[in-house]
Amino acid sequence: MRKILLTLPMLTLSLFSIAQQKTDPAIDQKVKALLAKMTLEEKVGQMAQITLDVVTNGKDRFSSYEPVSLNEQQLQHALVKYKVGSILNTANNRARSVEVWHQLINKIQETGKGRLNIPVLYGIDAVHGTTYTAGATMFPQQIGQAATRNRALVYKGAEITAYETRASGIPWNFSPVLDVAPDPRFPRQWETFGEDPYLIKELGLQMVKGMEGNNIADPYKVASCLKHFLGYQVASSGKDRTPAYIPDHVLRDMHLPPFKAAIEAGAHSIMINSGIINGVPVHANYNLLTKLLRNELGFKGLIVTDWGDIENLYTRDRVAKDHKEAIMLAINAGIDMSMIAYDYERFCDNLIALVKEGKVKQTRIDDAVTHILTLKYQLGLFEKAIYDSKQYPKFGSKEFEQVAYQSAAESITLLKNTNDLLPLKKGTKLLVTGPNANSMRTLNGGWTYSWQGEKVEEFAGKYNTILEALSNKAGKENITFVDGVSYKMDGKYYEEFDKGTEEAVKAAQNVDAIVLCLGENSYTESPGNLSDLYMSDLQTQLALKLAATGKPIILVLNEGRPRLISKFEPKMAGILQTYLPGNFGGDALADILFGDVNPSGKLPYNYPKFPNSLVGYNHKPSENRTVMEGVYNYDAEYNPQYEFGFGLSYTSFKYDNIKISAEKIKATQEITVSVEVTNTGNREGKEVVEIYLSDLYASLTPDSRRLRGFEKINLKPGEKQTVTFKLSKADYAFTNLEGRSVIEPGEFKVKIGPLSKSFFVE
Ligand code: BGC
Repeated sequence: MRKILLTLPMLTLSLFSIAQQKTDPAIDQKVKALLAKMTLEEKVGQMAQITLDVVTNGKDRFSSYEPVSLNEQQLQHALVKYKVGSILNTANNRARSVEVWHQLINKIQETGKGRLNIPVLYGIDAVHGTTYTAGATMFPQQIGQAATRNRALVYKGAEITAYETRASGIPWNFSPVLDVAPDPRFPRQWETFGEDPYLIKELGLQMVKGMEGNNIADPYKVASCLKHFLGYQVASSGKDRTPAYIPDHVLRDMHLPPFKAAIEAGAHSIMINSGIINGVPVHANYNLLTKLLRNELGFKGLIVTDWGDIENLYTRDRVAKDHKEAIMLAINAGIDMSMIAYDYERFCDNLIALVKEGKVKQTRIDDAVTHILTLKYQLGLFEKAIYDSKQYPKFGSKEFEQVAYQSAAESITLLKNTNDLLPLKKGTKLLVTGPNANSMRTLNGGWTYSWQGEKVEEFAGKYNTILEALSNKAGKENITFVDGVSYKMDGKYYEEFDKGTEEAVKAAQNVDAIVLCLGENSYTESPGNLSDLYMSDLQTQLALKLAATGKPIILVLNEGRPRLISKFEPKMAGILQTYLPGNFGGDALADILFGDVNPSGKLPYNYPKFPNSLVGYNHKPSENRTVMEGVYNYDAEYNPQYEFGFGLSYTSFKYDNIKISAEKIKATQEITVSVEVTNTGNREGKEVVEIYLSDLYASLTPDSRRLRGFEKINLKPGEKQTVTFKLSKADYAFTNLEGRSVIEPGEFKVKIGPLSKSFFVE
C-alpha cells in the first residue's frame, strides 16, 4: 500500500462541508410562523405534486380534452380538499401558448391558495429551452451544448430559458441534468453534458447560474432542479431505470462532483434518480438522501422524487409490500415532495396515517414542508405568484434566437474531412438524402413541445430543416432531395421504412456530392431503450449503396447517442456530428458546410466503433493493451471511432512551449501549466484547449487521464495565445476505498494537445 500524503476533508465529514445556499433569517421566520398554523393535512398536501391532466377536463386523469381547460370540481378536490401544493407538466403532452399558460396558472393560484394563502409551486421540464411553450427559443440539447465547450453560451441559454419559462408563469425548472453519462446505450445520454464529470460540473454550474441568477424571486429567474441524484445513467443493462452497481469510491469520484459543485453554487432543488444502486432504489436510500445529500453536502433545498417513484418502490422494485410502506420508506429516507403524479389521495391519506401511527415522525414532515415553503418564499411567490406576460417582450425574440443559432453553430463537430472536401464551393450540386434530412423533429429530439418530441412538426414549421437550410443557402437549383429512408411517425421511434433507396442512388449520378443525413428519430426515457447500437440496417444499406456510386459523401449525423457507423465510416469523405441541435441546427449546418462558419465543436463522449468496446476516454490502463507479451494481440484494445475531445476545424492549430511552474511540489501546492496555441491556417477559428491529468501510479488502478480544465479561444490566422491552467490538490486527488479523498505521492503527467510534462508530488 502506498503512503497517503493528504486526506482531503471535503467529502468525508459533515462538519467540514459548507453549502452555499444563502439562508435568509426573514424567510426562516415566516416559514416557522406559517408552519405553526398548519394542520397535518395541510402539511402533507404541500408534499404532494400532481400532473396537470389530473385537474383538467378530460375523459380521465391521464388525458385532457382540447382546447385544454381546468375542471372546477377536480381543482377543488385536489387543491382545496387535499391541499395539494405543487403541479407539474403540461396537459395532453402538448405545448401551450403563453396566454393559455397564464389562464391556467392564474386560475390554479386563485383556487389553490387556501386559508393560509400558500401559492402553488408549478414545475416544468424546460431542458433545452422552454419545452412546453409554443414560440419559445429551442437550444441544442445538453449534449450539443457540451460540444460547444463554451461556458458563456451555456449560461446565456439558461438565462433565456429562465426568462421564457417565467414568462409562461412557471417559476421552477427541472433542469439541468447532471448525470455522468458514459454509456451510449442509455436512452438519455443526449439530455446530459456527456461522459466527463469535470465538463458536466463546469457547464452545470453555468446552467444553474444562468437560470437562478443571484435571486430567484427576480421575475426573470427560476429555481433550478439538479437531476437525477445520483448515478442514474450507468445501469448495467444500458436500459432506463434498471439496476446499477456503483462502488462508493466511483460514486464519489465520478458521479458526485457535478452535484456537489451545483449545490455549493446555491441550486435550490434536486430530483432523485429513478433507478436502483447496489440493490437499493435511490428513493428509499437513507444513506444517499439524508447522510450524503443533506448531512455531508449540507444541501438545504427541496428534494423532489422523479415521476411516480414512490409508487415504484412497491409496484416495480418490490422493496415495499404496499403503497403505504413505500411512502414510509421514501419519506423517512429524506424525500420532501412526491411527484405522484396521479393518485394523490392515496399518497396523502397514507402519509397522514403513517404520521398518526408514529411510523413517520412529525419532525420529518415539518422538515420536508420547511424546505417546500422556503422555496416558495425564495421564489417570491407569496408576494406575486405570477407576473403579467407583458413584462416579457423578449420572449421568442430574434435576439434570443441568435443565441440558439450560435450555440448550434458551435456545437456541430467536424469528425472527418478527407482532402479538405469541406467547405463546399458555391454552385456544388448536392443530393440531400436520409431520414433526418427534412425533419424538425429529429433536429430537436425529445422534450420539445411534447415529451417524446413527436409533436415538433406542429410547432416548428417556421424553422428550417437541413434540406430547407441547404436550399436557402445553395439555391434550390443546386439541390436534389430524395428521402431514401424514412421514420414511421406513429410507431416506435426506431421504426423505419425504405422510401426510395434506389431512387437516391439514381439521383446521385447527377450531382457533385451527397449530403447523407442519418441518425435517429426522437425519443426519451424508457421508450428510447435500444437493443442494437449499430446504425439501423436500412440506413446502413443506404450509406453503402450511395458509397458504391463513387460520389463523395458528407455524412451528417443527427442522433441522441453515437450509433455505430463503423460498417460504412471508411467510405464517407466527410462526417459531421450535429447531435440534437434544436430549431437552428439546419441553418448552422448549412453555414458550416459552405464555410460561413468554421466548426469548433468537440465530442463530449467517446464515439465507439464496436458494440463490445464501450469504454470511456478515461478508461483504466488494463482496458488499453493492444499487444500482450509475445505475439498475441491482446483483446483489451481501446479503439473508439473518435475520441472524447475530438473535433476538426477548417484551420489548423499548433501547440508549443508547454511550461509547468514546478517539477516537484507538495500535495498542498498549486501548479501552473501554460501552453502556446497558434492558428497556423488561413482562416479565423475557435480552438478548445483541454488539459488532462494522469496519476501514473496509485493504490487503486488510476484512470488513464482525467480532464482538469478547458478554455475555448478564438484565433485569427497567424495569431498566437498563451493559455494557462492552474491545478490544485483536488485535481491530484482520488477517492479511496474508505471513501476518503486522498493524494498519493508520485509521478503525475499533464497533457495539453500533443504536448505533455511530468511532475512529482512529494
Ligand atoms: C423524468 C424527469 C422529469 C420528470 C418530470 C421523469 O419521467 O425522469 O427527468 O423531470 O419526469 O417530467
